Amino acid sequence: MTLRAEELPDRVVAVLDRPEKRNAIDQETIDALHTLCGALEAAPRTLILTGSGGVFAAGADIAQLRDRTADDARRGINALAFIRIRELPMPVIAAIDGYALGGGAELAYAADIRIATPALKIGNPETGLGIMAAAGATWRLPEIVGEARASDLLLTGRTLDAEEALQWGLVSSLHPADELMDAAHAIADRIAANDPLATQHTKRALRTPRAQHPAIEFDLQAELFESPEKHRRMTAFLERRTERAQGDEVRKKR
Ligand code: COA
Repeated sequence: MTLRAEELPDRVVAVLDRPEKRNAIDQETIDALHTLCGALEAAPRTLILTGSGGVFAAGADIAQLRDRTADDARRGINALAFIRIRELPMPVIAAIDGYALGGGAELAYAADIRIATPALKIGNPETGLGIMAAAGATWRLPEIVGEARASDLLLTGRTLDAEEALQWGLVSSLHPADELMDAAHAIADRIAANDPLATQHTKRALRTPRAQHPAIEFDLQAELFESPEKHRRMTAFLERRTERAQGDEVRKKR
């Protein structure tokens, strides 16, 4: 099994687990990612993606890539799996230690939130292998870091270290390796405290092409404005304030 998934009520932790091959993403891993996406589409939960053995993923499996043909390229084997991850209803957090290269980097780009350790090495060396990054880097990386920086990375095939990735905003924060998963869970905890439907609608709006704004927000917000959870959460807020104000009054009178 190349992908280990731990299912919790409000989140799933998926670990790329092929450390002897630096978690290189092979067909079995892609199939497992599709199965995982199926479960998360049916029962939306936050996904934390990480890798075992101090590596996120050292790319697509080069042993398999070498034999792939034009027809395989057109099937977009990795791209379709990563798009499905990107489109998951709830947020995806990539917790990255060590190498995230090639397809491994593209898997990380498909996440909504990326955090890393100081050992991070991220980039797309595909052109050095005679291919291009075709599973998200050319359209997602410019959205994340801007076109100039994406061009710098993709046209040179160089690798960023943790500090540069942080400075570019490619990762949001750095954590010592033994605190990485706690940091990922803390983000998932924050998400879990909010209304899941409001989070899903926010993610959908973030993913929507520019031409469809703000109509998409109006439609999504219309649904939320009528939701019982909105009423419950807002009433709870207002009642807390009233209770606090009444408490202040009583204290003043004493
Ligand atoms: N695909 C297939 N196998 C890979 C792999 C990949 N992307 N990355 C690493 N491996 C395998 C190696 O072939 C080696 O297998 P072996 O023990 O059977 O010989 C094993 O994983 C360990 O790799 P090794 O290079 O010895 O580890 P390292 O810690 O010294 O170096 C890397 C790690 C990531 C720097 C190095 O493995 C590397 O450059 N990998 C390829 C990165 C890449 O070009 N990715 C883009 C692919 S599109």
